[in-house]
Amino acid sequence: MIAIAKPYLTEEDAQAAYDTILSGWITQGPKVQEFEEKFATYTGAKYAVAVSNCTTALHLSMIVAGIGPHDEVICPSLSYIATANAIKYVGAKPVFAEVEYGTYNLDPVDVERRITTKTKAILIVHQIGFPADIDAFQTLASKYNLKLIEDAACAAGSAYKGNKIGCHSELVCFSFHPRKVISTGDGGMITTNRSDYYERLKQLRQHGMSINDRVRHESKRIVFEDHVEIGYNYRMTDIQGAIGIKQLEKLDWIVAERRKVARFYDEAFKGLPFIKLPMEQKGYYSNYQSYSIYIEKICPVKRNDLMQALLDSGISTRRGVMTTHRETAYKVECLGVSLVISEDMQDNSIILPLYVPMTQEEVSYIAETFVAMIKNANSGLMPSRNISLVNNGHKR
Ligand SMILES: Cc1ncc(COP(=O)(O)O)c(C=O)c1O
Repeated sequence: MIAIAKPYLTEEDAQAAYDTILSGWITQGPKVQEFEEKFATYTGAKYAVAVSNCTTALHLSMIVAGIGPHDEVICPSLSYIATANAIKYVGAKPVFAEVEYGTYNLDPVDVERRITTKTKAILIVHQIGFPADIDAFQTLASKYNLKLIEDAACAAGSAYKGNKIGCHSELVCFSFHPRKVISTGDGGMITTNRSDYYERLKQLRQHGMSINDRVRHESKRIVFEDHVEIGYNYRMTDIQGAIGIKQLEKLDWIVAERRKVARFYDEAFKGLPFIKLPMEQKGYYSNYQSYSIYIEKICPVKRNDLMQALLDSGISTRRGVMTTHRETAYKVECLGVSLVISEDMQDNSIILPLYVPMTQEEVSYIAETFVAMIKNANSGLMPSRNISLVNNGHKR
């Protein structure tokens, strides 16, 4: 079975974790600090604050941006549910806006339409690694005096107009979940250029403590901490920090390898009827966290049948990115919400395997199998367990 994704973890990542475990310092400490400094340098942001995952990164970003009850935050519904949940955690209301076909990202025109006197922020998502149009949202944010926050969970290593994601906005949140391009098991990071946000984020992630464990540990004089506000335990461990440092060193190479697979898929699928490929606009650089294909409604084969036929052929796939407003947790408050494009994209997109390293045999097999299914569909043959697929002798 070809997996949908695999983290790229090596002996050196394992060695870094091993060394940290034996160092005697395993929770947030020197390795987390080093990872933060290196991540800030990598993205071009002034500061980086490591946290337990991207959901907690988003939660803290909402707090420091001053979002609270009765505020509205515009975000896509077409995203992992954590995007909207972070808005709910501070008592605010997520207002879902439409995305665009091809880019999977928020449509600035639809976002502007949804701005009200209650709107406090726009939370953009760089979906499946494709940068959103940051300039367009910065223009909207300054026109209406709103905060702009980036959910870059999927976008470590992606770039927008020549600069790495992480340096453009006041608050940018990353994920290091194993489904992302680099991983620390779980983990998250917030980048910011504001020193006041930086200081408050560090405090909030550690129970609102005025000094951190490391400073206290290294002090030659006794020091007593104060808890200056109600904070959280959203710390990253030093074991994760040590892995993160090693993962970061490989990030550009991993992205380059992912892009090779994406280019191969692009070539293999171009010109096929009934499908729309992910669209990387000029000046945008995707890390291809996922390779998602939209199946047009006129395609004689339904998306789920394709997924089943691919699974029967030993290829794991996933449905397109979820829509939050149709999940049970949001259904009641979203009664009457209709997002035609987002719903269509969730219902008719398919994510193909993409990870590093993939063998040429695997990539070719996936591409040939998919092409054969679409071509068979075009000639009236529905994919089923009986359809003979191109199989170049791929063994499993
Ligand atoms: C767009 C988006 N935002 C937020 C998250 C949450 O990330 P984490 O699992 O690190 O909390 C994810 C995870 O899949 C995501 O895809």
